[in-house]
Amino acid sequence: MTVQNPPLLAVRGLTASYRTGDGVLPAVRDVTFDLHAGEVLALVGESAAGKTTVAQAILGLLPQQADIEGDIRYRGTSVQSMSAEELRRVRGEEIAIIFQNALASLTPTLAIGDQLAEVYRAHRGMDQHAAREAALAVLRTVLPDPERIAEAYPFQLSGGMAQRVMIAMATALNPSVIIADEPTSSLDPAVRMETLDKLEDLRNAGAGVLLITHDFGVVARLADRVAVMYAGTVVETGDVRTIFRQPRHPYTFGLLQSLPSIARRGQLVPMRGQPPDLASIGPECPFLPRCSKAISRCRVEDAPGLDAADTGVPDHRVACYNPMSVDRQEAQT
Ligand SMILES: Nc1ncnc2c1ncn2[C@@H]1O[C@H](COP(=O)(O)OP(=O)(O)OP(=O)(O)O)[C@@H](O)[C@H]1O
Ligand code: SF4
Ligand SMILES: [Mg+2]
Repeated sequence: MTVQNPPLLAVRGLTASYRTGDGVLPAVRDVTFDLHAGEVLALVGESAAGKTTVAQAILGLLPQQADIEGDIRYRGTSVQSMSAEELRRVRGEEIAIIFQNALASLTPTLAIGDQLAEVYRAHRGMDQHAAREAALAVLRTVLPDPERIAEAYPFQLSGGMAQRVMIAMATALNPSVIIADEPTSSLDPAVRMETLDKLEDLRNAGAGVLLITHDFGVVARLADRVAVMYAGTVVETGDVRTIFRQPRHPYTFGLLQSLPSIARRGQLVPMRGQPPDLASIGPECPFLPRCSKAISRCRVEDAPGLDAADTGVPDHRVACYNPMSVDRQEAQT
């Protein structure tokens, strides 16, 4: 697909650390990517890779004990230099997030209709009647019975309903960027499919979608480009077809081979080991203890940075001293 310049979102050298009682935890290290209008970029990786931390950093939502470095720009303007008021406006109107746990991110004491109407009152200056109508209209795009849902409180919703309400809330103001953090992890297959369809519609309508997930099935279904995260860093980026067929980082390759929904029958190979303890991570490649491709260079040098992959595919980059050379021709995307 053709991407346009400049990007909606440009993240450069993002580093985020949490100050904890046990010391500093480097959760995200030197993460760089662009998100363009009309594309889905998937940020993929195992639990604790730093995906949610990246999302929170973009939105200025990291807790006080987090320190960040690097540059995050929305339409060319530094998010870090925005005033609190400007950031609140951008967060509501320009960049929206669908949280990992939809139910917990709704206000428990307010009926759904009132929560949504409040969005229109606060950001669009609508009166009570117009805000209520707008709330019902946006609920109707995700649920068949908006009047009933508008009267309900969050605890009265199923997980799937809450997820749809969250999508309505996130898209109420037609944001340019939607960050979807594990939007389908707790959903049954039918609602999962609907949620992915909805995100696809938003992408087709011109939004840039940052899709955070550990599920390569979701990536295959929706993503245009992929950034694979491991232990706080991006270890491979590329278009979705290349990542599935010609993964070059041993971690990406291992992830794909270990997924029952992706690997072909009989070729399923579970990935050994666990991600490293971030608190004691050294300068060497963080994947070293799990890597079957490690060479002596990996043990003596600092971790490699992202470099052009041997595939020659534009924007296919990998951070590895001894990348894979086998293609996964059988893979489906
Ligand atoms: N508020 C916090 N204080 C201290 N450490 C934190 C905090 N939030 C996250 N972390 C740590 O930062 C690391 C990255 O966490 P993050 O939530 O970004 O991972 P993730 O990739 O989103 O994982 P998951 O797939 O499980 O949601 C983890 O080791 C986590 O324990
Ligand atoms: S740099 Fe070395 S240890 Fe790290 S993934 Fe590549 S081959 Fe493995
Ligand atoms: Mg997360």
